[in-house]
Amino acid sequence: MATILNGRELATRIREKIRSRVQALPTRPGLGVILVGDDPASHLYVNLKKQACEEAGIFFELNPYPADIPEQDLISKINELNAREDIHGILVQLPLPSHNANDVIAAINPLKDVDGFHPENLERLRRDEPCIASAVALGVMKLLDEAKARGSACIVSSPLFAAPLEILLKERAIESVIIQAEDVHLADRTRESDILIVAEGIPGLITGEMVKHGATVIDIGTTRTDESLKGDVDFESVEPVAGAITPVPGGVGPMTVAMLLVNILKAYDLQKRSLRLA
Ligand code: GUN
Repeated sequence: MATILNGRELATRIREKIRSRVQALPTRPGLGVILVGDDPASHLYVNLKKQACEEAGIFFELNPYPADIPEQDLISKINELNAREDIHGILVQLPLPSHNANDVIAAINPLKDVDGFHPENLERLRRDEPCIASAVALGVMKLLDEAKARGSACIVSSPLFAAPLEILLKERAIESVIIQAEDVHLADRTRESDILIVAEGIPGLITGEMVKHGATVIDIGTTRTDESLKGDVDFESVEPVAGAITPVPGGVGPMTVAMLLVNILKAYDLQKRSLRLA
């Protein structure tokens, strides 16, 4: 039987620490969220982020838009949030209905990019310079640390999630291969890896016969189906093979929210410091 990596428990501990750090600050950190369209899963995730911010004493501002808002209007809103002193973090909930996410994310001031998706933050992470790293990737690292995972890793994901994961794994001396779901060699790669991280948004993509015995399996993918929230990993067939596994829900999701709060505080500190240096 695999160890179940309880993201909810770990996240609660981190959120408590953040709450007491926020209480000690002279002013209140703030998060501005841009939510486009009416995807129920995105609305659910944004609501969880709102609850987490409010519980931690962080100001939360929601900016909702219809799916057909022009990209330039989103960028104008980001520029306004970039200039505001009460907003220390900006988050654009993904996926965007029809806009170019890379162009929209690139408009965020990297010092306020609390998701850690801005290319400048990725580049700074690669060069081991002060930056805001991807909240998802930081959450995954905490779970891997908890599992004391080591060996080789396979990341099944698009570059947005895979790139920061690859860098943070390398810092822990873990080499990784990145592969996409449609690759014909997918099962060969996943089967030879001690750590398997999946973020494709394809429910049940990874089944038991694709997993190395004793591997640590981290499921980032969450898809809302009619019945429930489903991960990319077929838990029933993988759990008996894996050494440790994250559940969906209750694994990576709560950790991403907790690390978002950590990043908001980091952004707050970086902005105060850059004001002092200016
Ligand atoms: N959609 C799925 N995961 C994420 C995330 O980590 N950040 C944002 N902004 N949107 C997401």
